[in-house]
Amino acid sequence: MTDLSGHVALVTGSSRGIGAAVAERFAAAGAAVVVHGRDAQRAEHVRGRIADAGGTALVVTADLTILDEIEAMRSVAEAEFGSVDIVVANAGGSPVKPGPLEEMTEQDFRAAVDVNLVATFLTLKSFLPGMKQRGRGNIVTMSSAAARRPDARSPVAYAAAKAGVELLTRDLAAQAGPFGVRVNCLAPETVLTERNLERIPVAMQDQMAAAHPIRRLGTPRDVADAALFLAGPDSGWITGVVLDVAGGAVLA
Ligand SMILES: NC(=O)c1ccc[n+]([C@@H]2O[C@H](COP(=O)([O-])OP(=O)(O)OC[C@H]3O[C@@H](n4cnc5c(N)ncnc54)[C@H](OP(=O)(O)O)[C@@H]3O)[C@@H](O)[C@H]2O)c1
Repeated sequence: MTDLSGHVALVTGSSRGIGAAVAERFAAAGAAVVVHGRDAQRAEHVRGRIADAGGTALVVTADLTILDEIEAMRSVAEAEFGSVDIVVANAGGSPVKPGPLEEMTEQDFRAAVDVNLVATFLTLKSFLPGMKQRGRGNIVTMSSAAARRPDARSPVAYAAAKAGVELLTRDLAAQAGPFGVRVNCLAPETVLTERNLERIPVAMQDQMAAAHPIRRLGTPRDVADAALFLAGPDSGWITGVVLDVAGGAVLA
């Protein structure tokens, strides 16, 4: 059992979905967890579940496309829990539906890049200096199968932004490794979060599952388990990797 006792972990976008599962998993492993979202009420539900299970958590809010808000969030987290030594830069998503590139507006393209790539950059920009100074830290970023497997049905701005997150991760792993900071990335295929359960009809879920060598779609717990492996000591000599959490649907 991976033990994160003594660690402080920020999980961005943990007010729901995959991030909430990561936050709960890390808290169960002993970390003090900083639960983040823009929706304080949802984040508070996650904190409550962690507390009910005997864990330690705190809620912070910030729009991660705005550096000042991230810096303010870091101050609150550090004042309550001390230095954050694990960051899961999970927040993101596709604000735009898939479709032909020429029909996408500039505004929509920029929104996808902002919420995925720029938000990841700004989060790491804020938390990395402290990690380097202390000589220890662990970062897990969040890509997507959309960036691993070109597909005409993918939302192109989202896929491109996530591909950027992957290269950012690998370059940063090379930069930060000598300072004791590991940086890895997860790339999930379709995960049955609350939103996807609502959005994807059951018949389509079955059809999608059949396209995976492991004949099911992912669960938030699948991604949380992989995040725990990358954030914990069992992956101590692994940095700069992109780990497909995809039921075999991405076989590079
Ligand atoms: N679900 C999947 O099938 C899947 C597959 C591949 C990759 N991913 C990736 O995995 C990550 C989590 O996905 P999910 O499906 O769990 O997402 P989700 O259920 O839509 O939750 C997204 C989270 O990100 C936060 N967020 C979004 N934009 C933000 C912003 N500008 N500033 C601060 N917080 C922001 C949301 O906060 P609030 O709601 O509180 O505003 C929420 O906590 C994303 O990076 C996504 O691209 C998901």
